[in-house]
Order: sequence, then C-alpha cells, then structure tokens
Amino acid sequence: MGMDTSGIACCFNEESNKMLEDYRKDGLADTSLATADAVASKDFSGSSILEVGCGFGGLTLELLRRGASKAVGIDLSPRMVELARKMAADAALSERAEFELGDGAAADLPKSDVVILDGVLC
Ligand SMILES: C[S@@+](CC[C@H](N)C(=O)[O-])C[C@H]1O[C@@H](n2cnc3c(N)ncnc32)[C@H](O)[C@@H]1O
Repeated sequence: MGMDTSGIACCFNEESNKMLEDYRKDGLADTSLATADAVASKDFSGSSILEVGCGFGGLTLELLRRGASKAVGIDLSPRMVELARKMAADAALSERAEFELGDGAAADLPKSDVVILDGVLC
C-alpha cells in the first residue's frame, strides 16, 4: 500500500499563493537560484530536466530559459500543478514544459539528463 500523501498536497495547496507571491516579489529563492546556477555552470544546453516536487515551476521554467530543451515537473499539490501550467503558458514555454500531478516517490518518472529535488526533502 502507498503512503498517504494527502496531508502534504493539502498543505502545499494552501502555501501556493504565498510562495508564488514571494517569487513575483523577490524572484527565485536562494536555494533555487544556486541550483539553477550550478546546473547552468555545466554544459547542459539541450538537456532534459525532471523536477520532483516542482511547486509552481519557477526553477523548472528558469532552466528552460537558460537552455534546457524540455522539462517535466511533478508535484503532489493540484494547486501547484495548476499554477505551474499557467506560469509556463504565460512565459510561452508550454510546448517544452509538462507539469503533472503525482507522487515522485511512486510515479513512473521519465528518464532525464538532470533530475532536481529542491526543498522537497525537508
Ligand atoms: C517546499 S515546496 C518546494 C517547491 C519548489 N521545488 C520550490 O523550491 O519552489 C515542496 C514541494 O514538494 C512537493 N512534494 C512533496 N513531496 C512530494 C512527492 N513525494 N512527490 C511530488 N511532490 C512532492 C509539495 O507538494 C511542494 O509543492
């Protein structure tokens, strides 16, 4: 039997607006920015990205802007996935970004060049 993840999804549904508000005001959080810089410091141009626990997709979309070819983000929170899809559409990146609802610990994840967990194992 799988783990009950409904409490996590529910908590991050509630957190999502505040997290997005902070991002719109201050940009990516320090850890996300450091992760983007670390990935981009390698020759990752054209790579595929998988972000598990992608939240509203700020880091995933940043890596697409910096040269990744395509990205998949997976998150337990329906509200986060909805926001991430909207962020991708607003940035005209929907064709290269796929955001899906799911449990990264149990889902069949796509093979990817770069796999990221940012602020997920707390
Ligand atoms: C603190 S937030 C960080 C979101 C994003 N990585 C960021 O830095 O803005 C943690 C996120 O991980 C998601 N999450 C936690 N456990 C997960 C799991 N097993 N599978 C998919 N998503 C998960 C939560 O729903 C939440 O959106």
